[in-house]
Amino acid sequence: MSAAEPLTLTLTDAPDEAQKAVISQGLGAYNDAAGGEGDYRPLAILVSDPNTGAVVGGLFGGSYRGQLFIDRFFLPANVRGNDLGSQARRRGCTRVSLFTLSFQAPGFYLKKGYEAAAELGCDPPGATRFLMTKRLTPGASN
Ligand SMILES: CC(C)(COP(=O)(O)OP(=O)(O)OC[C@H]1O[C@@H](n2cnc3c(N)ncnc32)[C@H](O)[C@@H]1OP(=O)(O)O)[C@@H](O)C(=O)NCCC(=O)NCCS
Repeated sequence: MSAAEPLTLTLTDAPDEAQKAVISQGLGAYNDAAGGEGDYRPLAILVSDPNTGAVVGGLFGGSYRGQLFIDRFFLPANVRGNDLGSQARRRGCTRVSLFTLSFQAPGFYLKKGYEAAAELGCDPPGATRFLMTKRLTPGASN
């Protein structure tokens, strides 16, 4: 492939793992060269039924360059309201960020000291997607 050759662009809703890896590894190498070696680590907090050991909920995301990003956070209705959602722990990050929809939990995160850094209109009409973020003190318990 030379820079002068026309390239083929393909729009797909089903990229395979190898195709995604080309993009991820290329971006990772670019970031490492531009900003120093990265330190991405996945992170999950799993909530399990003590009788069966089955995972019933929790959160997952990843930490990277001092920031924790939460991808998904869910507790089933029968265990909500027990302060479980407040017990997220961290690993030396100085900021945590996540997206939440207006019909999900912006009120929960505001109570926990997050602020809305951005508010983006989305579907369905009237719904909003918030970027919530909170500064963390390394070593503190919450
Ligand atoms: C959001 C969620 C993880 C919070 O877990 P939880 O165990 O219910 O939270 P806690 O018991 O720690 O609640 C702490 C406080 O936040 C409040 N709160 C909890 N969920 C809230 C919500 N969706 N909106 C506003 N306030 C909320 C609680 O009332 C409580 O208030 P208090 O301290 O005045 O009593 C859980 O409710 C859930 O899974 N919801 C459905 C999925 C969802 O919205 N996930 C978030 C995606 S970003």
